[in-house]
Amino acid sequence: MEDRYVVFGNPVKHSLSPRIHKMFAEQTKQKIEYERFLVEEDFPGKSKNFFLAGGKGANVTLPYKEEAFKLADSLSERAQAAGAVNTLIYKEGKILGDNTDGAGLVNDLESQLGSLKDKRILLLGAGGAAKGVIIPLFNAGIASLHIANRTESKAHDIAVRFANYGKIAASGYDDIPNDIFDVIINSTSSSISGDVPAINTDLFFNAQLAYDMFYQKEPTSFMVFASRHNADIKVSDGLGMLVGQAAESFFLWRGVKPDIKPVIRKLKAEMA
Ligand code: ATR
Repeated sequence: MEDRYVVFGNPVKHSLSPRIHKMFAEQTKQKIEYERFLVEEDFPGKSKNFFLAGGKGANVTLPYKEEAFKLADSLSERAQAAGAVNTLIYKEGKILGDNTDGAGLVNDLESQLGSLKDKRILLLGAGGAAKGVIIPLFNAGIASLHIANRTESKAHDIAVRFANYGKIAASGYDDIPNDIFDVIINSTSSSISGDVPAINTDLFFNAQLAYDMFYQKEPTSFMVFASRHNADIKVSDGLGMLVGQAAESFFLWRGVKPDIKPVIRKLKAEMA
């Protein structure tokens, strides 16, 4: 029987992960089975049963990333720092928790910009999505990170928590310094409702790239917002990050790293 993997979530019907992992498996000639697993209740029980029945690994999506963090027998440093787990690996009767979201983002940013070395980053939002990417961004060599959030106190809490990793500052949207930021990343969930973070639009003027972690068929509200205020700015949705985190999970499970570029291209074509 083929090794079995799933993505746990609720809802999970629209998850692209099975499609992505199927393409990875074809590309790398790995024989695996990967399916959606809707969990409506009792995530700890359902996930443990999956592994006891022979499951080799799982991705975890909303709303279970924190529960997966609590459930894991051991955690990688990046999962520990994020306080959230998106990848479970079952080995010798133990569940290992990791978080590949940040690696997925860094990978995509690097493929669009080249190196992230010395880049000044503005990160909008202070939820789980923001926490997961901070250490990978510093590890990629960024010069500084300013984190801004609608609820200012949450941005400050994060800045304190990650102070040891690099130069980090925090504010509300109204008090973002008028500095130059090379990359502006939206980690808020505002695009889901067609909304945008209420930042000073001059900030887009000097930026190279406006990146939205959210993705959909059409350009997201944040991408449209950025382009409207700087016709030359590069804009990107988070599809590459999604494929990148999947590639990193696949590597943890199978020991081979798929090439994400053809997979991103194919998904974009399928969505269009
Ligand atoms: P999670 O931890 O699951 O990522 P969350 O804690 O609800 O979810 O975080 C969502 C992020 O999106 C937060 O930064 C939130 O801002 P607040 O902390 O002020 O709530 C942000 N967010 C959601 N909708 C937004 C909107 N319409 N405009 C700006 N920020 C928004």
